[in-house]
Amino acid sequence: MYTENMQLLQVNQTRAGQETHSEHVLRQVRDLIREYGGWIGFDRYMHEVLHSPEYGYYSTGKVNIGTDGDFITAPMMGNVFAECLARQYMEILENLTCPDLAVILEFGAGTGQLALDILTCLDRESGLPGRYMILETSGHLIERQRALFENSASEFLSTIEWVQDIPRDITGMVIANEVLDAMPVKRFRVKNSQSIVELGVGLDQGLLSWEEGPPLETPMLARVRELGLPAGYQGELGFQAEYWTASLAEALEEGVAIIIDYGFPRREYFHPERSDGTIMCHYRHESNMDPFLRPGLQDITAHIDFTSIAEAGRLAGVEIAGFCSQASFLIGNGILDLAPSELAASSQKMLEITRQIKKLTLPHEMGELFKVLALSRNYPHSLCGFSLKDIQDRL
Ligand SMILES: C[S@@+](CC[C@H](N)C(=O)[O-])C[C@H]1O[C@@H](n2cnc3c(N)ncnc32)[C@H](O)[C@@H]1O
Repeated sequence: MYTENMQLLQVNQTRAGQETHSEHVLRQVRDLIREYGGWIGFDRYMHEVLHSPEYGYYSTGKVNIGTDGDFITAPMMGNVFAECLARQYMEILENLTCPDLAVILEFGAGTGQLALDILTCLDRESGLPGRYMILETSGHLIERQRALFENSASEFLSTIEWVQDIPRDITGMVIANEVLDAMPVKRFRVKNSQSIVELGVGLDQGLLSWEEGPPLETPMLARVRELGLPAGYQGELGFQAEYWTASLAEALEEGVAIIIDYGFPRREYFHPERSDGTIMCHYRHESNMDPFLRPGLQDITAHIDFTSIAEAGRLAGVEIAGFCSQASFLIGNGILDLAPSELAASSQKMLEITRQIKKLTLPHEMGELFKVLALSRNYPHSLCGFSLKDIQDRL
């Protein structure tokens, strides 16, 4: 039989030096659950273990992005991804009524590598924006981003600005790569056609466990009922990502927001194959579906229902400028021209670029699961990222 101490022992088997942290997180979460009468929503749990300023995975420096970390993202594979986004920015820049006002705003910049590579590319093309703003919620990652620029590209420090709130009247381009999947989600369980409950976190003999909470209320209930899901189905609703989209949409004055993440349009998202939802956790490049393992030491994510993001954007007054797979978006922005270009100064470099292109575009790698959604305001132009394919009718 498992006991509280046994769960701590299991935590103890993780990397030396980190067990104390995970024990601490576990105790904090247990206290919180007890304080709330034995149950908290999954969104609250996810917020605590990922984003609590005191002990969250992202806030405390436990997040480790890269080959020697927990997971890898497109910007960490090399500069090909950034080259494509820079090309997209240059096209947008040409169509703005006041290009002098153009900025780039990047949400959740992680290590800062994407910002650095985009700026390097735009500098080469004489297209530097007036400002490259970063809105990052993790104090630890802000330090890491600042150190990257101080140590390897101090010439860009006068262009970079770290902001705490979404700036008003954004003109230019907004980027959010793998940011929405880290935002807390609510979970639900369909018991039968009459009863749909919120699924949260409770304690079973002191261990974190899935527990049913109160019946769903509107608007969650209406949303789930509409889907006609069978009894037993469990899934997620990403309200925080929707609120974020609405705030961003309201702040966009002229230009395009590019949202890149793994996910599906709603009809595919709530597919019978995903009857247990889309929660995925990452620890040292291994994935699991147990968000109660190693609290505070592993990343927890949920896939994106892109239909809900598009709806939140439309409600806030922006248009859908395009939706497609990451592969289509990068090909539309010329990724396939990069290998034989002057960037590939040697055959070694050409091989390296080809490796990146394959990772980013092949269907069994990141090419199809990752999607790109573009929201625009006062920008009545097509985008080269969607020149190959635009499947927004599937949203
Ligand atoms: C999975 S990492 C991706 C990092 C980076 N974009 C990349 O592609 O390598 C998620 C990033 O989003 C940040 N983040 C999470 N929630 C956020 C929010 N609400 N606003 C801004 N950044 C956020 C995290 O601190 C982290 O930098």
